[in-house]
Amino acid sequence: MYLSRFLSIHALWVTVSSVMQPYPLVWGHYDVCKTQIYTEEGKVWDYMACQPESTDMTKYLKVKLDPPDITCGDPPETFCAMGNPYMCNNECDASTPELAHPPELMFDFEGRHPSTFWQSATWKEYPKPLQVNITLSWSKTIELTDNIVITFESGRPDQMILEKSLDYGRTWQPYQYYATDCLDAFHMDPKSVKDLSQHTVLEIICTEEYSTGYMTNSKIIHFEIKDRFAFFAGPWLRNMASLYGQLDTTKKLRDFFTVTDLRIRLLRPAVGEIFVDELHLARYFYAISDIKVHGRCKCNLHATVCVYDNSKLTCECEHNTTGPDCGKCKKNYQGRPWSPGSYLPIPKGTANTCIPSISSIGNPPKSNRIWPNISSLEVSNPKQANVCDNELLHCQNGGTCHNNVRCLCPAAYTGILCEKLRCEESGSCGSDSDSDQGALQRGCPQLLLLAALLGTASSLVF
Ligand SMILES: *[C@@H]1O[C@H](CO)[C@@H](O)[C@H](O)[C@H]1NC(C)=O
Ligand SMILES: *[C@@H]1O[C@H](CO)[C@@H](O)[C@H](O)[C@H]1NC(C)=O
Ligand SMILES: *[C@@H]1O[C@H](CO)[C@@H](O)[C@H](O)[C@H]1NC(C)=O
Repeated sequence: MYLSRFLSIHALWVTVSSVMQPYPLVWGHYDVCKTQIYTEEGKVWDYMACQPESTDMTKYLKVKLDPPDITCGDPPETFCAMGNPYMCNNECDASTPELAHPPELMFDFEGRHPSTFWQSATWKEYPKPLQVNITLSWSKTIELTDNIVITFESGRPDQMILEKSLDYGRTWQPYQYYATDCLDAFHMDPKSVKDLSQHTVLEIICTEEYSTGYMTNSKIIHFEIKDRFAFFAGPWLRNMASLYGQLDTTKKLRDFFTVTDLRIRLLRPAVGEIFVDELHLARYFYAISDIKVHGRCKCNLHATVCVYDNSKLTCECEHNTTGPDCGKCKKNYQGRPWSPGSYLPIPKGTANTCIPSISSIGNPPKSNRIWPNISSLEVSNPKQANVCDNELLHCQNGGTCHNNVRCLCPAAYTGILCEKLRCEESGSCGSDSDSDQGALQRGCPQLLLLAALLGTASSLVF
């Protein structure tokens, strides 16, 4: 017990002191839900926040194409190269396995040469738009952990929208727009993820970075998850603590990376020139050889295992929770309202287990809240977030821990853990606006490190 406490304090300190050092941190994996510990009363279980490992999610999806008959080969067709209308040696025939290009080939093993790919029919009905929706469904909420990468075997499309759904395909939101000319295609100014910041990370942008015109040889389109994480965790994602802290307290941020379905809306194929060559429409089509989606089942920090059974993903819930996402308390364990686990305090988080119902009373009264009313704090799981703990002294700079859910900070400080100088937020520290430099010279490098480590939650406006 004492050893583990010492170790967590040590881990925090190591983190603080290594923010600028070049080795990766080894804690904060959230890969166990409980461990046995020895106390004066003997062996007891200690519960902590836990989540499944991140993995290749394309193994668990269902793919649907719209229109359903858009795949090439029925009837058989001959294709030409985009760059050369007279090079027409690509044949698609759905009834011949070696010449068929069904949708499954977007998700098969890619190490083969030539690579296998899905291919659409050609744009023979030009000028009617050639549009295809590719819908990927998991029937389960998943959290994206790495870039979505789509590899086009044809040129990259001139216009495309990546969309997401959080409600099993009932409603859709755009995730990112892709175009050779964003203004022309979507009336949006072109941007890249690098133009965003912590404050604008949720902005939906149109990018020209992956268009036909730009690096003609590249076949790849990204949806940049890691670059977005890096606004919180630093360029090499070493400071995952900051990201996790932020995900814990900002529901919109966590939801941004959560999906049940993705949709790739192909709106206009690669043309490669300004005008469509109407005499050689067999040059225009879509072909995709690979789609990468990495993520993990969303289990609300109550499970490390997500099983795939009867073509369905389900969390194997611990902490006496239940449901596909561990989203409620088990029967007879409704002694307090259900809560997701919390990443805080780092490194083990808080399990927020469901506790036995008070069976003699039957259903506990609705007003049986053991947590204070902090709904005014816009945190995503306010009831349980064990933000601070007097024993571990998580509130910084003289802040005091209030009911484990918030730090009450001295006037000069702010942030979840009072880690941040209030003047920094308003930009009025010292006279020079180069406040990092200024603060360092005033002799509080540790504070700055902590601020970097813990993020700047209170200054975020989502
Ligand atoms: C693709 O899906 C969108 C909604 O996300 C819909 O408006 C559009 O009609 C669909 N296009 C095709 C070709 O099915
Ligand atoms: C859940 O319930 C079982 C009994 O069914 C109990 O042994 C266990 O300790 C409980 N776990 C938690 C995390 O409360
Ligand atoms: C909790 O606080 C909010 C706003 O501060 C208020 O509207 C609400 O009525 C309060 N709820 C309870 C149960 O006191």
